[in-house]
Amino acid sequence: MKVSKLALWSALLIALGALTSCSQFALPAPASQITPATSAKPKKTFKDLVVGYAQIGAESDWRTGNTASVKQAAEKLGVELKFADGQQKQENQIAAIRSFIAMKVDVIGVPPVVETGWEIVFKEAKAAGIPIILVDRRANVPDDLYVTGVGSDFVEEGRNAARVMAKLMNGQANIVELVGTIDSAPANDRYKGFREILKDYPGMRIIDSQSGDFTRAKGKEVMAEFLRKHGKNITALFAHNDDMAIGAIKAIEEYGVKPGEDIKIVSIDSIRAAFEAMIAGKLNATVECNPLLGPDFFELALKVVNGEPVPKWVYSKESVFLPENAKDILPTRRY
Ligand code: AHR
Repeated sequence: MKVSKLALWSALLIALGALTSCSQFALPAPASQITPATSAKPKKTFKDLVVGYAQIGAESDWRTGNTASVKQAAEKLGVELKFADGQQKQENQIAAIRSFIAMKVDVIGVPPVVETGWEIVFKEAKAAGIPIILVDRRANVPDDLYVTGVGSDFVEEGRNAARVMAKLMNGQANIVELVGTIDSAPANDRYKGFREILKDYPGMRIIDSQSGDFTRAKGKEVMAEFLRKHGKNITALFAHNDDMAIGAIKAIEEYGVKPGEDIKIVSIDSIRAAFEAMIAGKLNATVECNPLLGPDFFELALKVVNGEPVPKWVYSKESVFLPENAKDILPTRRY
């Protein structure tokens, strides 16, 4: 059989092409193109998260707003939330944290009822590899025992309360102060911030200061005591939260003087009831403290479990509300 030169060349070229392409597959890839066998873990999503939240209790409308925010955000994002109500007791919050550790949750969120006494249980969480995120309140622990925190600048809230009160009173007042829960971060910081500003107003005197534990009932009780002791000498009240102010308003009315007029009142939180009191002319200002921390908390939690960097504290943006526009703002308030 006669084979033409052309056919021979074609066969040779096809064979060479096949060889070349085979050898291309056989060649090892350059080191820069090799994907390591131990590739990075896939990132977790909200739906993978199991989060424990050791809430303080339900002492105020602020707290109820905070609980609702955490529960609603968990539901919206698909996070599995384990929620515990500490009923205002630190030992209950500690027990809740221990139960979350036993459940091996991914992250634990806690608003510490008081600043002290957390080191042992936070160390237990750390030893179990479970990050602690502080929500709303600080704890007095070394920095390595919590990963991050989210909430207000309570010192600044205290300063704002003093600024607005000094203006209301033209720098002259006999003030009584309803302090929040003893040893809590908001009580300590608001106490400090308020005094920082008052230093510049020698006519603004604090004549009495007692804890009303952030509740309406205690606020009323302590205000009644202040009135028994100091009578009409009192010209202003600074309450560390709106709930105590609302309790105090009742005591002031029962005593027979006018809240918002005879006794000017400034408080903190900006709950709906504070706007109603301002509309009724019984409260003179409310400094905002934002409880709607659920979305930020879960965002931090996800970043933490995925090993992403987070700031040590994320501050809420807040303002001060006065009676002038309380009517317009009330319908927009969510807590
Ligand atoms: O920690 C925030 C404070 O706690 C709020 O001002 C108060 O109302 C609440 O109980």
